[in-house]
Amino acid sequence: MSNADLVIVGTGHGGTQAAIALRQRGFAGSILMLGRDTAPPYERPPLSKEYLAGEKPFERMLVRPETFWADRGIELQLGAAVTKIDPVAKELTIAGGETVGYTTLIWSGGGDPRRLSCPGADLGGIHAVRDKADVDRIKAELEAGADEVVVVGGGYIGLEAAAVLRKRGCKVTLLEMEDRVLSRVAGEDLSHFYEEEHRRHGVEVRLSTGVTAIEGDGDRVTGVTLASGETIDCDILIVGIGVVPAIGPLIAAGAAGANGVEVDEYCRTSLPDIYAIGDCAAHVNRYAGGAVIRLESVQNAHDMAACAARAICGDPQPYDALPWFWSNQYDLRLQTVGLSLGHDATVLRGDPAERSFSVVYLKEGRVIALDCVNRTKDYAQGRRLVEARAAIPPEQLLDSGTELKAML
Ligand code: NAI
Repeated sequence: MSNADLVIVGTGHGGTQAAIALRQRGFAGSILMLGRDTAPPYERPPLSKEYLAGEKPFERMLVRPETFWADRGIELQLGAAVTKIDPVAKELTIAGGETVGYTTLIWSGGGDPRRLSCPGADLGGIHAVRDKADVDRIKAELEAGADEVVVVGGGYIGLEAAAVLRKRGCKVTLLEMEDRVLSRVAGEDLSHFYEEEHRRHGVEVRLSTGVTAIEGDGDRVTGVTLASGETIDCDILIVGIGVVPAIGPLIAAGAAGANGVEVDEYCRTSLPDIYAIGDCAAHVNRYAGGAVIRLESVQNAHDMAACAARAICGDPQPYDALPWFWSNQYDLRLQTVGLSLGHDATVLRGDPAERSFSVVYLKEGRVIALDCVNRTKDYAQGRRLVEARAAIPPEQLLDSGTELKAML
């Protein structure tokens, strides 16, 4: 059995930033990072964008140069999936049976892509877009000649992948279960704008459409059958239907939680000396009106990593970070600040036809979020409005000739 003062589970954005923040804060104990992924720690946002497009080499996605970790005394064990936690003995078990003792544990397990459950869902040619290996498989199949793609799910993953695949010349059909794309994260104006953009670029967008079966020839996908009975042919099926928080061992060990592991304002779980951060951490968020939520974003992973590192180093400060997100599709840069959840009014600033506009989300007359398309100034200035929950009359917000900072 090996041992470390601080064990981090997960080598994604949360885990790696936690290790970096701990060393920056002077944490002198031993640090062991365990990653299920076999690739050295890398940035995930390019996976569904430039990496899938073949425009960014993997080396440019590394979180830090490969030697960084050893230079900082951070031991990296890749290909190591933690299957069990004993919170009393303070011991982890890794698939294969190896055990690791810890004094403090940071769980940054992220999420596992949700899989389709219909007949045929285990055929070859069906891919998630979550880690490097997924995208490497897709790229290899495209290079081998696959060019008809069905994308299931009109969230960020599905839309970003669809945009790249159109650019690569594929025939793309996108199936979304809801009556609009991006329904989980955005209001209707933005959904309709993105739907139209994708149609304009030649994506066949099918809304209110679910998959009932996946067809195959031998062990490979050849098409999907819809509830209507229609079958759409494809060589590749990409599934972007959300993630399930990867918390199995924590919950089995007795940690409180269901959709995510519950953490307090210092990212502490209900188990002694176990912190949880990132996509899998359910926390009270002021920007969600005090609701318990999980945030699936790079921002949240980084800020929670910093929060946990502070607490571990004896300088705790409650987690209170402003949520933000971004998405690149075609020549559109979407930047979101705040959470639009529960909004009761929206204001459109600028003109979607000019492909530069913002949607301001209000709740009880106060600004709670903005979605800004090719409008970085609104995004930068809107942050302050969201932070202040500023009460600004809609007619004032509507005036796109006046800068948002002038309204505060
Ligand atoms: P998502 O939850 O954002 O979107 C999933 C979409 O699939 C939803 O629109 C949902 O209605 C639809 N859906 C669910 N089941 C379906 C079914 N059976 N048939 C058809 N449609 C179905 O999740 P997504 O896009 O998979 O993204 C996964 C994670 O990656 C999220 O955490 C996301 O935030 C993150 N991500 C973030 C990006 C960004 O911030 N730019 C880019 C890419 C991913």
